[in-house]
Amino acid sequence: MVKITSRFIRVGLVAAMLGFSGCRSEPQKRTTPEAGASESKDQRAAPTDVGLSVLKSDVKTFGETADGRQVRLYSLQNANGLKADIMTYGAIVVSLQTPDRDGRMDDIVLGYDNLQDYIKNSPYFGAIVGRYGNRIAKGKFTLDGAEYTLATNNNANHLHGGVKGFDKVVWGDDPVWKDDAVGVKLSYLSKDGEEGYPGNLKATVTYLLTNKNELRIEYEATTDKATPVNLTHHGYFNLAGAESDILGHVLMLNADRFTPVDEGLIPTGELTPVKGTPMDFLKPTPIGARINETYEQLKFGGGYDHNWVLNKRGKGMTLAARVYEPTTGRVMEIRTMEPGIQFYSGNFLDGTITGKEGKVYKHRWGFCVETQHYPDSPNKPDFPSTILRPGEKYETVTTYRFSTK
Ligand code: GLA
Repeated sequence: MVKITSRFIRVGLVAAMLGFSGCRSEPQKRTTPEAGASESKDQRAAPTDVGLSVLKSDVKTFGETADGRQVRLYSLQNANGLKADIMTYGAIVVSLQTPDRDGRMDDIVLGYDNLQDYIKNSPYFGAIVGRYGNRIAKGKFTLDGAEYTLATNNNANHLHGGVKGFDKVVWGDDPVWKDDAVGVKLSYLSKDGEEGYPGNLKATVTYLLTNKNELRIEYEATTDKATPVNLTHHGYFNLAGAESDILGHVLMLNADRFTPVDEGLIPTGELTPVKGTPMDFLKPTPIGARINETYEQLKFGGGYDHNWVLNKRGKGMTLAARVYEPTTGRVMEIRTMEPGIQFYSGNFLDGTITGKEGKVYKHRWGFCVETQHYPDSPNKPDFPSTILRPGEKYETVTTYRFSTK
């Protein structure tokens, strides 16, 4: 039975009936799974019979983990009809629907239809990765004179937070309503020693779907011991709706330099100019135009799987990337406070994964653009620091803005 179970949904419904464009409320705090919530299985309570021009939020149970934790799925909709489904397992964006140039909506991110497939086998589809996005060489670093050993899960290296990173835990959740955005604030306490990291890290990630057609991600964290932190979003995008590979997408990266890697994809420490190489995306270029060129870095990555050094002025938001998909006209612009962006061309996708709606994800069927600090920064003193200390606050924002041309 459909029943309204929380005040934030009611507020959405009232706003919808009154024809508001957005609404403000102090929503009821939801109990987190960690606190042992007991809620009715079916929490679906969408104001289904109302038109657009209102923000909407709806929450339902998406499934349960093996240890009995309930996983919830938030369905957000902005005033223009863009939709984002976000679940509490892995803080994963399960689907993201945006219009093409003719107004036809499609889901532009890769993933699965159900929780169990995400748990069984996911190459970080749509997740928040942490405590440290990308690699730390040999899973080791020294901080304030002490050596730390992290879980290794990528040959000898540590990748995306280790064996059980932030993409594989159930986050607490609170709905968020703003005048021009609707969202969910997800929280996770990463305990001292988890995957080898020092300090209890309290992390929150707030996803907002704004009426400017942005998916805005606000990251925050505090710690009680010095620790590296590098959170990012690992969405796999295909702006044509995962009907073909992403090689025809036209990419611009606002970066004069990148961080070259060794065979294990660990940065050498250099910042190399992109000029005259297939890494140059200053001028918008199809992803596939040079991907098969003989160039050592492309060989190491099996395609693009590198960090670009963003051209930045100060610490504010900078345009990092723009991607245009010519057949649908969809455009995605990424702005960030971070100094780098990992552009990964989906090289490990090989047709063995069948995702949403039975679609088979073949080689390079999706790409990732992960805003971040540079890989292996804890071992690279010349890279911008990723160390968060007690009393400091980790705060960073990235936005993905959708339009058409
Ligand atoms: C990142 C890494 C890649 C790969 C993907 C997920 O982009 O750099 O090597 O791990 O995530 O498969």
